[in-house]
Amino acid sequence: MASLSLVQLILSIALVLSSFVLDVICFTPPPRFAQTSALIGNNIYFMGGVVPLPDPIISDFFCLNTAVLTSTASIPWTELTGLDNLFTTWGTAVAGGANKDQFVLFGGQMTPAENSSLVIVYDTNNNTWSKPVISTSSAPEPARKQQTQAVIDSSGKMYIFGGSTSDNSLVNDMVILDTVNWSWSTGTQDGAPDARSDFSATILNNGVIVYIGGNGLNNRYVPMSQINTYDTISATWVNKEATGDIPNPRGGHSAVLTSDGRIIMYGGALSISADGQYTAASPDIAVLDTNSNFVWSQPKASGTSPPQIAYHSATLVGDHMIISFGNVTNKGPSADVYVLDTRDNGYKWITSIDAPVASSGNQSNVGVIVGITVGVIVGLILIGGGLFWFYRNRKMMEDVIETPGEFTDAGFTRRYETMNSATTSQTSHDLSKLSNTESDPSREFHPSYSHNFPVQHDPEIEDDDKEFRILPQELQPEYLEKKFNNNNI
Ligand SMILES: *[C@@H]1O[C@H](CO)[C@@H](O)[C@H](O)[C@H]1NC(C)=O
Ligand SMILES: *[C@@H]1O[C@H](CO)[C@@H](O)[C@H](O)[C@H]1NC(C)=O
Ligand SMILES: *[C@@H]1O[C@H](CO)[C@@H](O)[C@H](O)[C@H]1NC(C)=O
Ligand SMILES: *[C@@H]1O[C@H](CO)[C@@H](O)[C@H](O)[C@H]1NC(C)=O
Repeated sequence: MASLSLVQLILSIALVLSSFVLDVICFTPPPRFAQTSALIGNNIYFMGGVVPLPDPIISDFFCLNTAVLTSTASIPWTELTGLDNLFTTWGTAVAGGANKDQFVLFGGQMTPAENSSLVIVYDTNNNTWSKPVISTSSAPEPARKQQTQAVIDSSGKMYIFGGSTSDNSLVNDMVILDTVNWSWSTGTQDGAPDARSDFSATILNNGVIVYIGGNGLNNRYVPMSQINTYDTISATWVNKEATGDIPNPRGGHSAVLTSDGRIIMYGGALSISADGQYTAASPDIAVLDTNSNFVWSQPKASGTSPPQIAYHSATLVGDHMIISFGNVTNKGPSADVYVLDTRDNGYKWITSIDAPVASSGNQSNVGVIVGITVGVIVGLILIGGGLFWFYRNRKMMEDVIETPGEFTDAGFTRRYETMNSATTSQTSHDLSKLSNTESDPSREFHPSYSHNFPVQHDPEIEDDDKEFRILPQELQPEYLEKKFNNNNI
């Protein structure tokens, strides 16, 4: 009997180890848009977003290690642990805290309400989530907002201008969150631009935040000649008139700042009718020179351009602008990553990155690689040893092996119940309509995005998708490709 339990032990260890190793190595995030993201060290962290049906009920959380990014065909993703049973979209995140090593997520849509928090924080040092207690002695807790873009200054203050609130109204307030001492404050409304959402925000080295574009009241897009700036040092708004080759207005675009003071704007779209039809913004790339009083230019990038994307993430690492996920206009959510080389004012879409994107030699990256390698080897040895023991003891094993607990029907039922109880209607522009899922069986499992996809109730998914982490057919890129081509969406 002693050898039997040893076999069991070895097999369990091998199973746990190999599934962990496979998870780490093989994780590929499904397509999405309106996720939140932030660069911390060499890693771009991502959370949640609008994903194709059936929607998961827990937002995935993962990172892209730019230090080992060498090809856009194989992205070095690492899966991490999300918070509680929380589903998040349309929020905004920065690298906060005294050492800029905290993923600080503000607002957005979060469900279920009981597990949501206006601010949630992931500590990248010890990989733990927390909901910080934030002082309201200088300003009350602000309203939840979405479709805004926050920036963080060098002292750890997060600036959250505009966006839309949960009752679907656009706002123009400036919320300030101190991510070091955790307190709320507000910026001046004097000279603040009109309410808007879906703009880009970029903080310059002199502490001036540059707000570009976005969608205002009555679906009026902000002209690109109008540049609104907020000086975080003097706490004042200054509105500027940009000149040069002015690009078309848009929302859902991104903007990054190069070390020589260029703001590179990418992508975005405009809704052209009330029924949520979007048209891609043009041109896809425009550059605002912040050194010479805001002059626009429209450089042509060489290489193969990505499809027309909006509501994506963009991060500048070294000279490379990394564009991840997003909604491809007239197609839908994307899982792809594109890299724009911005060196020397030449713009080039690249698929292979000869020099690592970030500075290499980072201890923790080496650690991860060594860890994975050692893990794989140990796992293989254990599996081999386990199989050897297994065959030697096959007869005795027969009534011992069991389905691991988390895959049992009870485990599935638990998740299934949580999913249904947590289902809400999520639309990008309306948080207020929480549907009663119990009374409407067609909504079970499938919160609908009114601007996204028609809801289809597919009973097969419920029966077959017992292992939560295996992607259902609907989430697989090949399937989506086919679906959209067939539907001519
Ligand atoms: C909220 O989070 C707690 C702690 O993780 C969890 O036990 C609970 O099931 C969650 N509630 C819902 C409705 O998901
Ligand atoms: C993680 O580290 C932070 C400090 O960086 C600390 O406040 C927090 O308590 C730690 N959490 C755990 C679970 O160790
Ligand atoms: C946090 O508090 C300390 C001590 O009160 C202060 O020196 C520091 O400037 C504060 N940091 C921020 C970002 O406000
Ligand atoms: C995303 O793309 C789909 C497919 O083109 C479109 O129907 C939907 O309106 C888009 N949503 C947003 C927010 O861009």
